[in-house]
Formats: sequence, structure tokens, C-alpha cells
Amino acid sequence: MKKFKFFAVMGILGTATCIFYIHSINSGKTAPVHHPVSHMQSTTSAVHSTNSGKMAPVHHPVSKIQPTTAPVHHSVSKIQPATSRKPDHHFNEVPDITLTVRMSSNAKLLNHFYCTMLRSLTLYWSTSHLGNLLLILDKESKEDHKFAENLQKYQIKLGINISFIYEPLPKDKRVLTVARSQPRGYNRQLYSSFIMDKFISTPIVAWIDTDGKFTTPVTRDNIFKGNKLRVKGMDTFQYDWISRWSRFTEKMIGKHMPSDFMTYFPVYIWRDTITNCRNYILKHLNVSTIEEAYIRVGSTDYNIHMSPVNTIMTYAYYFEKERYDWHIDIRNVDLQKYNNLRLTPGHELTSPDLTPDFHVSLHDKYYTDANNAVNRQAYCAAVNNTVLNMEQNIKQMCEPFKTNIMWVLFEFCNKVKQEHLTTWCKNKNKHCISMIKEHYDKTRQLVNKGVYNLDLKKFKVVEEVANFHKIKCRSFL
Ligand SMILES: *[C@@H]1O[C@H](CO)[C@@H](O)[C@H](O)[C@H]1NC(C)=O
Ligand SMILES: *[C@@H]1O[C@H](CO)[C@@H](O)[C@H](O)[C@H]1NC(C)=O
Ligand SMILES: *[C@@H]1O[C@H](CO)[C@@H](O)[C@H](O)[C@H]1NC(C)=O
Repeated sequence: MKKFKFFAVMGILGTATCIFYIHSINSGKTAPVHHPVSHMQSTTSAVHSTNSGKMAPVHHPVSKIQPTTAPVHHSVSKIQPATSRKPDHHFNEVPDITLTVRMSSNAKLLNHFYCTMLRSLTLYWSTSHLGNLLLILDKESKEDHKFAENLQKYQIKLGINISFIYEPLPKDKRVLTVARSQPRGYNRQLYSSFIMDKFISTPIVAWIDTDGKFTTPVTRDNIFKGNKLRVKGMDTFQYDWISRWSRFTEKMIGKHMPSDFMTYFPVYIWRDTITNCRNYILKHLNVSTIEEAYIRVGSTDYNIHMSPVNTIMTYAYYFEKERYDWHIDIRNVDLQKYNNLRLTPGHELTSPDLTPDFHVSLHDKYYTDANNAVNRQAYCAAVNNTVLNMEQNIKQMCEPFKTNIMWVLFEFCNKVKQEHLTTWCKNKNKHCISMIKEHYDKTRQLVNKGVYNLDLKKFKVVEEVANFHKIKCRSFL
């Protein structure tokens, strides 16, 4: 360990959290040890819904929950048709959500996407009740188009609705090389995060990386508290990449990060928060395009790193705090001390902002689970006591987990430590146990109603689609 230095970096696509690069200190040369980013360069824009034919009118069991600002329109984006969601009492007041992944068809990303994201998604995230999965791809990439054309044919079999957007290359090509240690595709994807509202028509963006792995069926309460979107954050300032992210954020919007927001997926954002944040950046830096801002700040020096999620959620914290429901784990630090250290006077965290919350996913690339124990336990917890008829082998599989509590819900990464088991859930306390229990009481109702059918046969379909790219996923359970 001593030999290495962890470096800041964003996730697979723009969001992730515990993503880090390892640079050897001795050699001046930075060699990113792996990262899941596309090396493709890109170009133009077009949008299509692959939900061919059926473009149902935008209705949905109308939400009383509304974002407080009007959405912007932008010429690049054709807005994809909204989904026609299945009505269900549980999700009645939830506005349309776009589960958004910025990716491209490079082999590593595809592997994560199919084997991790898509398999867990088919089990635990209902596009028919919440809104489409949206993949933002590189417009000029033939491979990306092929990937999309193949995948879209399987939507019905997979039981999910997918939209695709092809994003053009940025006009100013310097965007692709701003973070000098990072490949062009990665730079591009980071930049893209600042304009994703232009491609999305729903009031809510649920942002996730290709290696995000859902671990439990998602309920309304995992997304909302009242009419506010949930946000999780964590004090991970011990890692040196956080200060690099914070420097970027500070230069972009003039505020330090109050917390690390790259510690959970999906990150739920009112779409117009992204718009407002961008407009704020333009004013703050006195520039006319976000490209200019991104290039100027990103190339300040070698030790600045972009983290769009952190910039946008820091903006949300300082300027739109009331629209979000904050769950910040300041670890075992005294609140007043934390406020003195991290927060601008007048914007202190208060104790309600520190309320515990759990995860519905973990960051697979940064979570070691060699024997799929998490997947099995998670599945067993989801089917437990439901009306579903388990096959004998599943019953057997679940036997060892009979008395286990899903503590995994309070973890996000374990390769880099990002968990709440030593903080909020210290000593495996009753409060956390009851949160877990309450959650599974809700998911059980959703499973019993058929909102989630937990059908493992869909894995076969994922494997079939992945096979198009000669990708073989290892067993999930
Ligand atoms: C997909 O969207 C269509 C309408 O756009 C809707 O009727 C259907 O229920 C959705 N299906 C799934 C599996 O999400
Ligand atoms: C902002 O930029 C414009 C054009 O580059 C310049 O004329 C103006 O003086 C700048 N304003 C401030 C407050 O720096
Ligand atoms: C299964 O559900 C029952 C009833 O809610 C609960 O008592 C039990 O702890 C659950 N088992 C697991 C492994 O979650």
C-alpha cells in the first residue's frame, strides 16, 4: 500500500464513487491501473426511442410532486418520448424518472453493463413503474449504434424499456484532453454529465454507472422523502482524491464540497438542478459556454480532478437544499466540528441532515464479493416470505441466509472503505435493523403485487444479448 497513492477520479461514467486510480509514486508517469472508460471519440446528436412504434403520450399517474423550476429546452436535444408507466398505487405520486447511464460500447464497459448493471436492474428496478433506462452513447461510434440496435430488440423479453441518445462530440475538442492523465472517452463522459439535462425529458434523473449493482427492489421511499429527493453523502475526506474533487467544485461554483456525494447510486437529481447549476457556473466564471468553463477549470493544474456529481450535488446543497432530503454520514465526528471544518457559515448541516439511510446498490467494481454471496443473500432477502414459488434449488440456496440481516445495504464499496456499519449502524444497532426490516416489508408488498417478479429467467436473456458481443458473464447467484 505504501508504494501507492490513490488518486481522485470519477467513476465509470461520470459518477462513481469509490473509483480511484493507483499511481506509482516513484515513477512520475501515471499509469491508471484500470478503469472502465471509453476511449472512443465522438460526434453528433440524435435521439430515438427504441420502443418502436409505441410512443405513448406523456401521461403518467400524475405526480403532485413537481420540480420547482421550469425545464429548459435546448436545440441539441430532442427529447425522448416519455414512458407510459404502469399505474401502481405505490408509485402514484412519483414523477417520471430516467435511469441514466453515460457509456459507450467498449469491451470493459459492456461487460459491466451487461453482467452487473443489466442483470441486477432486471430484478430490482422497474422501468415500467418508474420510467425508462436511458443510455447516452457516442454519436459517431458505429459500434455504439450496433450495440443499441441489438439491445433494443430485447426490451420486451428483458421486461425493461430503454431509450438511446447519441451525443455528438463536443465542439471544442480540448474537452477531450482536459484531464491529461485520462483518456479522451473518459474526459468526454465527465463533461457530458454537465449537459445531460439537455437529453432528458423527465423531471428526475437517476444517475448510475455501468458497474452499479442493485441489491434490492427499489421502493418509493428509497427515492423520496415527502416531495424531496433523497441524497446520500459521506465524509470520505481522508482520501486524497476528495480534495482534488473539491478543488474542482470550488473553482466551478465557489463552494467546497460539504460531503462526498459519490458514495451511492443512483444519484437522484431534479433535472433542472443540472440546468441551474450550469447557468450558475457560467455566471460564476463569466464564460459563455460550459465547455469553456470545463476546460478552463479542468486544466488549472495536474492535481485538479473533475467530479460532476460532486459539483452538481454541492450546488444543490448550497442553492436548492430544500428540494432534497439529506442523509450525510459525518462518521463519528462532532457536528459542530464538522461544520466548522467543512461548511460555509449560514449553510451548516443540522442534525436532521445526518439521518441514516441505506443503499439500494453497491459499486461492483470496488466491492469484492468473489463468491456472489451478496447477490445470493440479496435475492433471498427479496424473495423471503413472498407469494413467489421458489424452485427447490433456490430454497436450498437461501437456507444458509435464513437468519442473516442484509447489512450489505449499509455498504457501498469495500475495496475502498465506504460503509455505515461503523458509524450509523455501529454495534449493529436496533435502529438500523428496523430500517432494514421496514424496507423488506415494503419490497415484499411490491413483489406480491407483481411490481417486481424477481424472475431469474431474465438472466438468460441478458446472457443472450451479451453474447452478441462475445461477452460471457459469470454466474450471478
Ligand atoms: C414500456 O413502455 C410502454 C409504453 O411506452 C408501456 O406500455 C410498457 O408497459 C413499458 N414496458 C416496460 C416493461 O417497461
Ligand atoms: C466578463 O467577460 C466579458 C467578455 O469576456 C468581459 O467584457 C467582462 O468585463 C467580464 N466581466 C467581469 C465581471 O469580469
Ligand atoms: C423473512 O421474513 C420474515 C418475516 O418478515 C422475517 O422474520 C425473517 O427474518 C426474514 N428472513 C430473512 C433472512 O430476511
